[in-house]
Amino acid sequence: MELDRSDEEILSGEYGETRRVMLEILIALGKVYGAERLIPVSSVQVSGASYKTIGDAGLEWLNGLDARAVVPAFLNPIGMPRDDWRDMGIEDHFAKKQEEILDAYRRLGISLSCTCTPYYHNIVSYGDHLAWSESSAVAFANSVLGARTNREGGPSALASALIGKTPEYGLHIMKNRLPDLVIGVDDPSATKDWGPAEFGALGYIAGKEAGNRIPYFRGIRGNRDRLKALGAAMAATGAVALFHVEDITPEARVPFFKNSFSIEGKESITIPVSDVEAVFSDCEVNAVAVGCPHLSEDELRTLAGLLSGKKVKKEFFVFASKEMIDEHEDLVGKIEASGAHVYADTCMVVSPATDRLGSVMTNSGKAFSYLPAMCGVIPRLGTIEECVRVATE
Ligand code: F3S
Repeated sequence: MELDRSDEEILSGEYGETRRVMLEILIALGKVYGAERLIPVSSVQVSGASYKTIGDAGLEWLNGLDARAVVPAFLNPIGMPRDDWRDMGIEDHFAKKQEEILDAYRRLGISLSCTCTPYYHNIVSYGDHLAWSESSAVAFANSVLGARTNREGGPSALASALIGKTPEYGLHIMKNRLPDLVIGVDDPSATKDWGPAEFGALGYIAGKEAGNRIPYFRGIRGNRDRLKALGAAMAATGAVALFHVEDITPEARVPFFKNSFSIEGKESITIPVSDVEAVFSDCEVNAVAVGCPHLSEDELRTLAGLLSGKKVKKEFFVFASKEMIDEHEDLVGKIEASGAHVYADTCMVVSPATDRLGSVMTNSGKAFSYLPAMCGVIPRLGTIEECVRVATE
């Protein structure tokens, strides 16, 4: 693998043992996947931030590292809101361990902006090379923004933060970004009226079909929030890191794509709208949770409108980034006037607060997929309107 002078100096130990080991991780990864060189990344998103998911072994590993990030780097959601963790029913022991994990990342120069939607707050441009690790953020960055990142693990993303580079393989190379599966629905006109929940249900089904392939959707209509929900669900039930939508996503419109890709001869599947509708279950739930992935400004506004003048009768959890919450205090105030709670830094899946709920309604196809295994709760999928109705009736 081609290394430059600064790589050689790092490997010689001149910049410390942590950097040396981190570069070796990147080189080993590159060799496995046939990379010829390392390329600079413009930002890094590091998963493995909740004490619930990394435990004491992860904390001990982080505490043994001694270096600082050399590119903008930020964290995935942690297991609790940093300010009001007691409100969420987090226990003291968990909070203490979570604080220690945050201290370790702070020492490593990672920004404590804990969100799976960093793209709302950090400038990502078309064609940027990134090293991001949260699967829904990876799908959104690649597909909706046209940036380029593989689906990194927590350690390889952290290595990229401390070195500033990633091995050039996989989705960093344009020819590897072409679709290998065509997906449609049997009544495309129905998708015009779909919201994020329906797109999440479509992704829930499509991800199982796609596995780790790159789907090309034909005939569907979706804005950014809907494509966010679609990608998040496909990344959960499959390992989809990139998808294209005919005439909508940026790469599907560039000459390289049009000249290099044809649907002729590609495997093609059609998902019946009735299958999408069948994902919406109907059972009693104890609580409602929305914000997987973290909510956008438009999603906060929609929720504030739906909850206006109403009071929730079930626990209602809302998740968004700290930056989004701080920028939209008016919307957050309207939501919380209903008795719902808006939390920063954390989410319904990586927080232990969800584990005690028994059953949860969500409008997220990704959460619908993860809640049983990660939190031991029975999930119910519903639209945002149904979530509000079930919480307030
Ligand atoms: Fe984000 Fe947590 Fe969902 S990290 S995508 S809110 S599982």
